[in-house]
Amino acid sequence: MKHMVSKHDGHQALIAQAENAWRENSGKLDTTYRLQYHMMPPAGWMNDPNGMIYFDGYYHLFYQHDPYQAKQGPMHWGHARSKDLVHWEHLPVALAPSEDYDKGGDKGQGCWSGSAVDNDGVFTLIYTGHVDGKKPEEVQCLATSNDGVTFHKHAANPIIADSPDAERFGFRDPKVWKNGDSWYMVVGYGKDGLGKAIMYVSKDLYSWEYKGTAVESDGTMGDMWECPDLFPLGAGDQHVLLISPMNIAPIKNLYVAGSFDYASCRFEQRHAAQIDYGFDFYAPQTLLDDRGRRIMIAWMNIWGATMPETAHGWLGGMTLPRELTIAEDGKLLSHPVPELAALRGSHIAAVAVVVADQSYVSIDGVHGDSLELEIVFDLTASDASEVGIRVRCSEDGTAFTEIGYSIPEQKLYTDRQLSGEGDGGISEAPLQLAAGGRLRLRLFLDRSSVELFAGEGRIAMTNRIYPKLQDTGISFFARGGDARIESLDAWELSSIW
Ligand code: FRU
Repeated sequence: MKHMVSKHDGHQALIAQAENAWRENSGKLDTTYRLQYHMMPPAGWMNDPNGMIYFDGYYHLFYQHDPYQAKQGPMHWGHARSKDLVHWEHLPVALAPSEDYDKGGDKGQGCWSGSAVDNDGVFTLIYTGHVDGKKPEEVQCLATSNDGVTFHKHAANPIIADSPDAERFGFRDPKVWKNGDSWYMVVGYGKDGLGKAIMYVSKDLYSWEYKGTAVESDGTMGDMWECPDLFPLGAGDQHVLLISPMNIAPIKNLYVAGSFDYASCRFEQRHAAQIDYGFDFYAPQTLLDDRGRRIMIAWMNIWGATMPETAHGWLGGMTLPRELTIAEDGKLLSHPVPELAALRGSHIAAVAVVVADQSYVSIDGVHGDSLELEIVFDLTASDASEVGIRVRCSEDGTAFTEIGYSIPEQKLYTDRQLSGEGDGGISEAPLQLAAGGRLRLRLFLDRSSVELFAGEGRIAMTNRIYPKLQDTGISFFARGGDARIESLDAWELSSIW
């Protein structure tokens, strides 16, 4: 039933066909790993967040989508919206590959990633049309909507038909924003082994002038930068650039903090670091909301992973929305948005729990697969070398995911080696204990994900895990000495679906 509509039947017919596929396929899913409170597609494949915008009282989140199968195919733009960043409503597919500049075979062509803007009340999407020929062709395209639901492709697409250089490696993922009375577009690019963020400027969104490279890899930051997002954050001319660099494994995401000059379109880099230290965080995008908050969401998967949910008829989650701010030392801070407290159900609190060396302590009522945990370890009088939490533990103790902190190495980690199906591996991040010897961890556990926040917003670590449904145990451990949990708060989180 894939793409039976002929090219003469047009965009809207393809969209209707995509919805039928959803209807048919969403009833057939295996729900074992379905996320309870993270955005995910009704069925089929999802990757990058696209077109994030706060428009007319709604947060809109579009996404790379194949509604027909749980693997990467011809890309559509799925569409969801939310009033509160917590509860999401699925809307009809917004874009389907229908034109010569955005359709092709079945390898992954289509309407690739991009962004959304409010052009004086006109809801406008700017995206990459990707056609896989002998050499992939990538052009920048535009579509508009009057009602925020049905989108019409611009008759004179593509709006940018040529990349600055024929010998490039990628020319995609336009992110557009307005400054003064001009529109600015940053596009992901790669040439001569260097990832680049290149710039265009426009007065009307339709005709664009090339302005050169804003910033590029210093040779250690990948050979193509996917999904750039460049935005002001903090005082003065401070800006942050988020990138998804290709071919610098194991690093999959970076931010570059510095200053951006709108006249020259040059970005001066102060420092670069990882945005998130987990395995499953890619292609983050941000929006600015009506309260002036810069909110980021990323794809909670990674290319090349085993992705066990594909066998269940779906693929892909989005991270929780995180508010970005910048610290005085220029480091990027991310915090889950406070609206998420709306998910909180029954609450268990504990104080002054002693965790003896080499023990695994459980706390009455603290277990499950859909939880928020806030834990403060007091390590002042402790000679422990490692402390932490095991989640999704099996009855017999052979399966679990371990989140821990090594005191001598000042290192936070999530260990998935015994987590269940899917890829193993240990993700790690440098972390200094807070003043007063406290280790503060905040953990969001969903059916097939663990998001960890620490260091007052400095560390985020996002991982997918695929344990057995019945493995819901939680325990707290210490090694090398006793430790003390100063306080623990655990909330059951409700489902948004
Ligand atoms: C990043 C990416 C983008 C591209 C899209 C295709 O994950 O490769 O560069 O536009 O996915 O789905």
